[in-house]
Amino acid sequence: MAEIIGNTTIKFDRLDSTNNYATAHLAKDAWTEGTVVLAATQDNGRGQINNRWESEAGKNILMSIYLQPSFLPVSRQFLISKVIALGIVEVLAQKLENVRIKWPNDVYVGNQKIAGILIENAIMGNTLAYSVVGIGLNVNQQQFSAELPNPVSIYQLLQCETPLDVLLENLLTAIDRFYHLLRDGRFSEIDEAYLNKMYQLGIQASYVDKDGAFTATLQGVHTDGRLKLLSTDGAIRYYHFKEVEFVR
Ligand code: BTN
Repeated sequence: MAEIIGNTTIKFDRLDSTNNYATAHLAKDAWTEGTVVLAATQDNGRGQINNRWESEAGKNILMSIYLQPSFLPVSRQFLISKVIALGIVEVLAQKLENVRIKWPNDVYVGNQKIAGILIENAIMGNTLAYSVVGIGLNVNQQQFSAELPNPVSIYQLLQCETPLDVLLENLLTAIDRFYHLLRDGRFSEIDEAYLNKMYQLGIQASYVDKDGAFTATLQGVHTDGRLKLLSTDGAIRYYHFKEVEFVR
């Protein structure tokens, strides 16, 4: 099984954003699938919903992976998020307890966010031409800005430094393994593994949608990526990203 993820790595001390760099160079420089771009720091690290991704220089993993999932129908594009999240969880769970995937693109330890994923897809017809998968993983940062809602790093949880190169190697290997499952069409295995790692799975909790707050039990995700909630009035509700929020 040839390694795809990380077959080529490009490292920078500083970039505006690894996702921006990848998007600007992948075609121009004829990147091979699995190329990884890393930066020690970003001037304009981007998160979901136009948020900024903050990271102290040299302390964390900031990277983007170039994928060509042309075998994947657009309707199943959420599988990319699944395999990436599963790779991150597998590696973190070797060190930490209670690592979960918070739908749609976060990795949590307990109720705190340790990693975020920003996936930017290019769609051609019914398939994905390419995907730029940005990952920010908090590793050795000791303090975060007070404005961030609930960040955490491995350092804060274990009170010791983690060598970034070893962690990166493990991460690329784990993501590679899950990406091979995806390429082999083993979608139901991925779906099941993801479901088992979901934050608040089977737990009654508060959510907010456009109509206000409600209580529901998280039941999983639809194959199209929508969150599936069973509300206390007995209705099953499906939500796209940004249509619902978890209440902390
Ligand atoms: C989120 O949780 O909002 C997603 C955060 C994604 C951050 C990473 S850091 C590396 C890559 N480059 C970016 O500009 N963003 C992603």
